[in-house]
Order: sequence, then C-alpha cells, then structure tokens
Amino acid sequence: MRLQDVLYSQGFGTRRICAGLIQQGMVAVQGSVLTDPAADVATPGLHFAVQGRDWMFHDKAYLMLHKPAGTECSQKPSTYPSIYTLLPPPLRQRPQKSAVQGVQAVGRLDQDTTGLLLLTDDGQFIHRMNSPRHHVAKVYEVTTKHPLDDSQARRLLDGVVLDDDPQPVRAAACEIAGQHHLRLTLTEGKYHQVKRMLAAVSNRVEALHRSRIGALSLPADLAPGQWRWLSETDLAALRA
Ligand code: URA
Repeated sequence: MRLQDVLYSQGFGTRRICAGLIQQGMVAVQGSVLTDPAADVATPGLHFAVQGRDWMFHDKAYLMLHKPAGTECSQKPSTYPSIYTLLPPPLRQRPQKSAVQGVQAVGRLDQDTTGLLLLTDDGQFIHRMNSPRHHVAKVYEVTTKHPLDDSQARRLLDGVVLDDDPQPVRAAACEIAGQHHLRLTLTEGKYHQVKRMLAAVSNRVEALHRSRIGALSLPADLAPGQWRWLSETDLAALRA
C-alpha cells in the first residue's frame, strides 16, 4: 500500500495532509524516515511513527476502554466530557467504513457507569455484539443502596417487567457477592436496564461497573481512562 494511503487509512487526515506529513520528514517506517508519499509498504505487522508517536497498522480497529465515571458515550455530549476525548485523534478520524466514521462504542454505558467498553470501526462487529440474538453476556458489578436478599435475586432471575415493555426481562445470572454487591449478567442491553431492574425489586443502584463482556474481562492493569488494542486472543474470546 502507498505510504500516503496507509496514513490516510489510519486516520491521520486527508490524503493531502498525509502526503504533507511524509514530505516534511515526519513519518518513519520501521525506524527509517521516508519522504516519498508513494513509497510502497507492506501493511501486515507494520510499525510506523508520525511526529515521533509510534503507531501500528490495523486494518480494522478494535479496542477496549476502561470508562471512567463522569463521561458520556456520545460524540456530542450534553453535560460530561465525551469518552471519545480519551482516544488519540487518529482513532476518531479513521475514514468511514460502512456506516461509521472513526471508532464507535459498542453499546453505551451511562455517564456514572464505569468499566469495560469496546470500540471499533467494524459495523458488523457492533451489530453482532449488540444483537440480543447472539446472547453476548455482559457482567455488571452492582452496588446497591439496600441490603440484598435471595428473594430479590430470584425475582431478577425469574424476570421483572419494566415500564416500557410488558415482556419481562431476566438476568442470565445473578450472584449476591456481598450485602450490597450483586454480580448481574445480562444478555440484552435495554436503556438503563440494570438500574430499572433493581428498581423493579425495590432496591436502588448506587454504583455500577461492567467487569466482563463475553469471555473478556476488564484487565486489572487498565486504569480508568486508559485504552488498549484488543489482541487476537481478546477477539477470539468475544467471538466464542
Ligand atoms: N444498565 C444501566 O442501568 N446502566 C448502564 O450503564 C448499563 C446497564
């Protein structure tokens, strides 16, 4: 692929801007500065640097973010900063593939929810992960206002009716991990679902953290606000 097209595909700006960066000597490939925008480079495993910042070529972008509290999963947030400001600009500017430009969150978390959030520019992946048909399990660590008891857990497993749909929604799994700590597994993602399910059993969510999606857990060493690329192993865990 031409070097100019590599940069363009990875979100470094228009083709003209990318050509300019290369001609000005700001792009190094495997450690050597290249100044020809048409230089032919092999993309699998390609490492390059733009203005001193290392980058790795990804045909499609798949990443995880440890969403901090007080951030909105929206490109146009109303009150809190957008999660997208936590990502480097190239990830937000990757050229449009299918319907999406840049990486997009796979589903949304509330502004006060923390934890594992996936982002990608692969529209099919987003669809698959969000589709209730695929039953991708999402595990939430719920801190409750009132003490938990077995009857609340039983009702969450049997199904509770939320205000916008007569069909009951059920937890796929529900473990009382402490007096005020519930580990709840859901395979669908309705608006404010955990908070509304807990309200339906006369309790209240004080804090909410997503710890796992499918077989992928939030790594203990990924601090709030940090992101990282998903590895092939992570992707296999999600597709399993
Ligand atoms: N359920 C909620 O109520 N909020 C979230 O952020 C995620 C699931």
